[in-house]
Formats: sequence, structure tokens, C-alpha cells
Amino acid sequence: MNTSDYNPDFEALLDYLKQNCGCDLTVYKRATLMRRFQHRMQQLKIDNYPNYLQYLQGHPEEYTSLLNTVLINFSGFFRDRDSWDYLANNIIPQIITSKQAQEKIRVWSAGCASGQEVYTLAILLAENLGIEQYLQRVQIFATDVDKDALMQARQASYSENEVIGIPSEALSKYFKKVEQRYVFRSKLRSTIIFGCHNLATDAPMSKIDLLVCRNVLIYLHFQTQASVLVRFHFALAEKGFLFLGSAESFSNTKHLFIPVSLKHHVFAKGENLTLEDHLLLQSKTGKKKAVNPLNAQIRIWQTAFEFSPFPQLVVDHRGRLFMANQQGYTLFGLKNNNLGARVQDLEIGQIVNSFALMRQLHCDRCPINLKNVEWTSERGTIYLDIYITPISDPNGSLIGANFTYVDVTHYTESQNEIFIHTQKCQGLIRK
Ligand SMILES: C[S@@+](CC[C@H](N)C(=O)[O-])C[C@H]1O[C@@H](n2cnc3c(N)ncnc32)[C@H](O)[C@@H]1O
Repeated sequence: MNTSDYNPDFEALLDYLKQNCGCDLTVYKRATLMRRFQHRMQQLKIDNYPNYLQYLQGHPEEYTSLLNTVLINFSGFFRDRDSWDYLANNIIPQIITSKQAQEKIRVWSAGCASGQEVYTLAILLAENLGIEQYLQRVQIFATDVDKDALMQARQASYSENEVIGIPSEALSKYFKKVEQRYVFRSKLRSTIIFGCHNLATDAPMSKIDLLVCRNVLIYLHFQTQASVLVRFHFALAEKGFLFLGSAESFSNTKHLFIPVSLKHHVFAKGENLTLEDHLLLQSKTGKKKAVNPLNAQIRIWQTAFEFSPFPQLVVDHRGRLFMANQQGYTLFGLKNNNLGARVQDLEIGQIVNSFALMRQLHCDRCPINLKNVEWTSERGTIYLDIYITPISDPNGSLIGANFTYVDVTHYTESQNEIFIHTQKCQGLIRK
């Protein structure tokens, strides 16, 4: 959060909503949120946050009106027409050809608002597959955090103004005119499953071939965006595609997706999740953090790692230092800014060839034990036994390794002394 966006009265208001209404708005950008709150407060002629908090406490129904103001539901059919055309002509045919003849095609419209995006998708899929194949093979998950918007999406009924973006042929083929409204045909609607789902906290879908999330990420806080993108990576099938809105991009999670068309904001699934990505995913799952068994388990592991009597390091699959416990920091003279550095560029990189080790772990996935490794630094010479354990993700891909160091200098020195003593006794050496 920008320091200029920090306002204690506003934070108190967000805290009240989180504690009492079960709604965590802290995931959204503060500047946008404040503008939206002020808009609602102006409608009520309330001019400061403490007074609005008091109003909320006395009028529980206000919560719904506030959410409607905050969660901008604006949507439209074929919004950014060029990009939808690109999807229809390039991406959907690729998905279809990558599948077996009868195989299901799974699509997720995340943040679908009042449904225009979902029905746009349904039209394009039906046009590509033909109605029969569409009905047999397509499953669309349409989710949003806003229940009112979802209700409208389920009804699938739109005014004359709202259907302006739909090509006239598609309008007559896929919609039925009921009085002055256009209703999406119910037979095709049967392939769509609607559900209330919060992208920031709920578990993602899985094995998705096409994930459409447009004009949602822009409202989310930088860190929340990153954790949502990790979820999207998890949700996508190996050959799946992600389709974002025209104003959306990402920088810190670039490795997760490969651009297919930057112009149309279409991406393919990228590299495997890193250790950082897994932590990002875990740190946001579950609303009740204090009692979440997963968080408790992580805490136990963390403590066991932190307070182990042996120096330990974790290196990610690219050979970069991911974390170290206190003993590790002390033994190797590490500093916080060494995290993320290539191990071979640090002093510890002189002990073992971490690159070759990671390659071996990648091939064998078996722990490696190195005995009595000599290490000379400006602090003197010591001997270490090194235990290297591979770390894999649930799919079995290597995401890092744990290095545990046991100082065996005393043992090695006394072994050497015994050896020298024996040789002397046997008259093999003089001194
Ligand atoms: C501007 S609309 C975009 C609708 C549609 N995707 C489009 O581009 O036409 C943003 C939608 O995102 C939804 N949204 C906001 N935060 C969300 C969250 N954390 N999880 C799921 N949906 C969310 C809002 O309720 C709203 O319906």
C-alpha cells in the first residue's frame, strides 16, 4: 500500500467489514476503494469514514449497497471485439484440435459479472464446434464474488441496449426475444455452472482449457494479483490458455505464463510453480487463518527449520538461495540480500557445485549425502557432512532442495591425529 493511501479511519472501516460481514476488501487497491466508498458516502450525504462506519453498524442492509458500489459489475458482450475474434479464430480451434474427438472442453469465466462474458464464450464455442458437439463436450464454469451479479447472469435476460455488441446473426440464433428483452437459449445455458467464488481466497478450478478473467485483476492489490495468478496457473491444464482484459498484464509472476498474443492478452501455461509461488498460494488459502490446520502445519515446519541445531539452506530448482535458518546465516555469513542470489555466486557456492547437484537431483530424485567435505574460508578450515534432500511439488516436479550441514571438524581432526599417531608408532613417519 502507498503511504499516501493509508488512512487509519478507512482501515478501521475495512477491519469492521472484515470482522463483521466476512468481507475482506483489503485485497483491493486502496485508491480505487476509497474513491468507490466516497461515491457511496456522497449518495448518503456522509462526509467522513467514522460516520459511515457508524451508519453501517446501524444499517446492516447498507452492506449490500456498498458492495454493489465497490465491485464494479460493468460488462458487455464481445467487449474488445478484436480480441474475441482472435480467440475465436486462433485459440478455440487450437484447443479443439488438441483434444480427442469426444473429450470435454473445460472453460472458466472468472469474475463473470452479469453474464455477458460467459454467453459470448458460449456463442464462440458453439460456432466453432457446432451446437451438437457444443452440448456434448463443453462445460463452462462461471463464477463471481457478487451474488446479485450472478443472479442476473443466471437469468440471462438482457435489454435492447445491452445486446448491441452481439452480431445480428448470432443474436437471432442464440437469443429468444421475450417481450422487450433478449434471453439466451436455455438449452445452451445447461452447459454453464454458475457459482459464488472469491478469486483471492477460494480454491481454484482444475484442468481448465480456457480461463477467461477480464477486467478483474486491475482492481486487485499487487500481491493479491500475484496469488490469483498462481491459482490460475494451478487451474490450467497443461495446454490451457489464459485470456485477460485489455488493461491487464503482470510482471512479478512472468514465469508462470508464456505470451501467445500480447496484443490480445492471451497467454499459455508457463513454467512449473516455484517455492515462492507455493508459499504465495498457501499464505492466502482459508479465511480463518488462526484455526486453519494447513497454516498450523506450515508454522510447525517453519519452527522446526528455524530452530534446527544444524545449519540449513533451501535452494530453488534454478539454483538460487531461497531461505536459510539462523544457524545457516551464521555459519556462512549470509545477509538478507543474499536471498534470491545464485548459490554459485556466494561463498557457500565454493563448497559444492550446486548446479551439478540440482541436475543430479532432477534426474534421480534421491537424497545425496556428501561426507567430510573440506571448506576453507577466512574463518579457517572446517569439515562438513552435507545432506541434500530433493523437494518436489504434488505433481512430482523438482522445485528445490534442502541442504543440511553437520560440522564434523572435531571428529575429522581426531581421526587425523589417531592416524598420525599410529603411523608414528609404526615408525613410518618421524614427527
Ligand atoms: C468489471 S467486472 C468484469 C466483468 C467481465 N469479466 C468483463 O470483463 O466484462 C469485474 C467483476 O469482478 C468481480 N470481482 C471482483 N473481485 C472479485 C473477487 N475477489 N473474486 C471474484 N470476482 C471478483 C466483480 O464482482 C465484478 O463482477
